[in-house]
Amino acid sequence: MPLARLVYASLTPAPVSSRDLMEILEVARFRNRKDGITGLLCYADRRFLQVLEGPPEAVCETFYRLLRDSRHCEIRLLDFRHTANRLFDDWTMGFAGVAEITNDIVAKHSPSGDFVGFASAPDAALAFVTELGPLLSSGDLAPAA
Ligand SMILES: Cc1cc2nc3c(=O)[nH]c(=O)nc-3n(C[C@H](O)[C@H](O)[C@H](O)COP(=O)(O)O)c2cc1C
Repeated sequence: MPLARLVYASLTPAPVSSRDLMEILEVARFRNRKDGITGLLCYADRRFLQVLEGPPEAVCETFYRLLRDSRHCEIRLLDFRHTANRLFDDWTMGFAGVAEITNDIVAKHSPSGDFVGFASAPDAALAFVTELGPLLSSGDLAPAA
């Protein structure tokens, strides 16, 4: 089955609470399970960085819905490619927040040394999520309460 991976970055109009993150993840995981999508959602500094992977049409349709979602703005498509393997195949949507996104791993990859820098550095963003994924414990993590 053909697979695609999409990475985008976005900004939130205001800080997002754990409760709001839980709600986003609950809907995302429900839909993604049906659509064959896996991935990772990162949230820090009022920014999202998300990886969506799965059948190319399903990945695109999910991204089109995300583009219309007013909970974030300034959505920047960083990468879209066909791929043979999923990076996050046991997560309908994993989550990484302030507890997981450490200064060390951000500084290692971000050209500006902060999470914001990934929004304008596609290669750095991809390297960051690729390294971050395996460091997280397996499964659909929820944001810390
Ligand atoms: C940061 C963020 C990440 C999201 N991730 C997903 C996702 O992975 N899959 C998904 O189906 N919806 C995701 N959503 C929700 C979609 O934007 C949309 O609300 C949902 O798919 C329902 O769309 P519908 O009301 O048009 O059916 C996310 C929303 C936000 C703000």
